[in-house]
Amino acid sequence: MVKNIGKQLVNGAHDWVFKAVHNRCLIYNVCWEDPRIDRQILNLDAASQVVVLTSAGCNTLDYLLDSPAAIHAVDVNPRQNALLHLKLALIERGDFADLFRMFGQGAHPNFRSLYAALRTRLPDYARAFWDQKIAYFDGDSHKRSFYYYGTSGAIAWILSRYLLSADRHLRTRLFDLLDAQTLDEQRAIYATIEPALWGCFTSWLVRQPMTMAMLGVPRPQIYLISTQYPGGLVGYVSAKLRHVLTEVLIHDNYFWRVYLTGAYTADCSPNYLKPENFARLRANAGRVHTHNATVSRFLQQNPGAYSHFVLLDHQDWLAWHQPDALREEWELILTNSRPGSRILLRSASPALNFLPEWVQSAVRFFPEHTAALHPLDRVGTYGSMHLAEVR
Ligand SMILES: C[S@@+](CC[C@H](N)C(=O)[O-])C[C@H]1O[C@@H](n2cnc3c(N)ncnc32)[C@H](O)[C@@H]1O
Repeated sequence: MVKNIGKQLVNGAHDWVFKAVHNRCLIYNVCWEDPRIDRQILNLDAASQVVVLTSAGCNTLDYLLDSPAAIHAVDVNPRQNALLHLKLALIERGDFADLFRMFGQGAHPNFRSLYAALRTRLPDYARAFWDQKIAYFDGDSHKRSFYYYGTSGAIAWILSRYLLSADRHLRTRLFDLLDAQTLDEQRAIYATIEPALWGCFTSWLVRQPMTMAMLGVPRPQIYLISTQYPGGLVGYVSAKLRHVLTEVLIHDNYFWRVYLTGAYTADCSPNYLKPENFARLRANAGRVHTHNATVSRFLQQNPGAYSHFVLLDHQDWLAWHQPDALREEWELILTNSRPGSRILLRSASPALNFLPEWVQSAVRFFPEHTAALHPLDRVGTYGSMHLAEVR
């Protein structure tokens, strides 16, 4: 009885912290899903009308390279769309070097004057956010990079400082790992550092509900992992990390590089930061429309026949806490799609066991296709990926 009350208090506190963090902060400074995999599944073309959850906006810009008719970037947290707007303003302004300094290196020597030139291009809410936070791009600050701000950036900062300063050998080997060119090299290096990576501090940090709240992992997802994975949360994260660092080539894995070093490089960066893509991005920037709303609210207010929905892993969030909201979202997706519309989801769980029967019969899944692509994902922290096509 006392144990149960204690557990309820801990759970309640985690939910409260999660909500407080999400109502006040920028959470994601990098999209944590691999668009190289997505674009093989989505097959975007000039007729595509895409709905995607914004997160940090990186993948919206990646999809823009396929020149779809429109991309609706939807996020319930307006700070995430403020981030996408800052990227779009830089792209529309037309100076690639400025874009790369800000979002490739995470800092700009003249960030204040550059921002002064950009701010009139931003909607009011984005301007209000960046008026307060533009010093995230101050290379002289103690963190030296935008990629260590926002709540997921703050966790990356703590972990990367710990790993890079704990032991010189570990530091050298981590940089060797980032520079490795073959899987054999990666495996040999990883075998020498794995025990040090999972020292007491890292294991403790990963188990903290506050860490997970700051990384944007809500309790339903933690529950899914801890109940479905034999080693619990630490076992899950360490197995996923081992896979992505030893079975997927790292030389263009910009996801892990940016959190370890605070910056991308010219060769290891998202497509929206490649000079050869800049002209196309600039020409297509007007096709992005942002919406500060839930997916359901967006669809109620903007009915249509959308061709693609990229839902990231947010249905894990709904499945446990808000089954009515999950049902409503699927009703609206199916009403606002057309036969052949594609829906892409990821989950912490190895299977999508939360979908209602009526959804499963309204769509067709392609498990062979997604199961073959999932292990190649450079993020590597999800349990599964799913493509549903509307019948
Ligand atoms: C689901 S989270 C997960 C992060 C993700 N895996 C990524 O790529 O970074 C991505 C974004 O979805 C937003 N979000 C969560 N539930 C939402 C909903 N029902 N409608 C709209 N946005 C939502 C969050 O604010 C967050 O910025």
